[in-house]
Amino acid sequence: MLEDYWHIVCASNKLRTKPMAVTLFAKHVVLGRDEEGKAFALEDRCAHRNMPLSCGKIAKGQIQCPYHGWQHDATGQVSLIPSIPSSKQNTGRFKINAYPCYEQQGYIWVCLSGRPIQQSPPEFPYMGTQGWHTFRMKTRFKATPENCLENFLDVPHATFVHKRWFRSPHAKTIQAKVTTLEDGAMGEYLQEPRKKSWVFGLLSSHKSQLTHTDRFIAPSMSRVDYQFSDQRHYIISSFCSPVNEQETEVFTVISYRYAYLGWLIRLVFEPLSRLIIKQDVKTLNQQQANTARFGEEKFAQIPQDLLRPHIVRWRRAIQAGQTPEYKPQNKQVDLSV
Ligand code: FES
Ligand SMILES: [Fe+2]
Repeated sequence: MLEDYWHIVCASNKLRTKPMAVTLFAKHVVLGRDEEGKAFALEDRCAHRNMPLSCGKIAKGQIQCPYHGWQHDATGQVSLIPSIPSSKQNTGRFKINAYPCYEQQGYIWVCLSGRPIQQSPPEFPYMGTQGWHTFRMKTRFKATPENCLENFLDVPHATFVHKRWFRSPHAKTIQAKVTTLEDGAMGEYLQEPRKKSWVFGLLSSHKSQLTHTDRFIAPSMSRVDYQFSDQRHYIISSFCSPVNEQETEVFTVISYRYAYLGWLIRLVFEPLSRLIIKQDVKTLNQQQANTARFGEEKFAQIPQDLLRPHIVRWRRAIQAGQTPEYKPQNKQVDLSV
């Protein structure tokens, strides 16, 4: 099940001294930090009368309910009931669900099933590596993770959704290669016209060769990698956490290397990335609203929709309790960009 995988619920720096409510797979979870600062995750429900614990506070690493003050520790165990005299405290039989919780690379990860299939969450590349710069974005989509992942790894939409900003039509046919990987699939684009827009002009110097790959890392991550021969390198990783059936919280990490002026590039690159993702949010919201009007996803599939079949195959298999069998596969597709 997808719930057996680690999912990001928030950035580490958002969880401080107060309990925090998050929603994952439509389950309401409260996050807190114990006395050592270690993050924990519980169902957001007081053992006594179902009050949301996220409305309470953290006292000495325990979450205290705002209604009658019952305290819950990091394991969900009720540890104090203020209305019972201290000599008669007997809280042992009251407990709420706790979820495995992991902090890594500035994010809090939760495994909702309680049985994480991966020892630790997947990693974002080059975070904290010398010479690299990183910034993060969090974006709420009214879309499924499948449709988000497809969008992040899709080349043809850029000409329309991100017209002028990112790509303009070239009517050039390039070769795209799709390869299955043990943990997903990858699209590679050969001889892609480099100077598609002013953004590309800014991000690389003029004669530089571009290597571009789009990777789906099952079940919930996308990674777009642009490497220019002049050592400039941009990696955009997005992790999709389903909030509920209709919404997905997307945590994007953008890491890049750009000679000496990395910090300066960010002044342009960050607002630009936000603008581009906003265009995708608008598109995917419209797609989902219309899918609802037509009652189902009536999708047509062409070979140029490179990665969707892999995204769907992996996620369906996992949801059905299987892992897709890895068959090394390599397919070339003509793609007009
Ligand atoms: S409802 Fe939480 S202490 Fe009573
Ligand atoms: Fe896009």
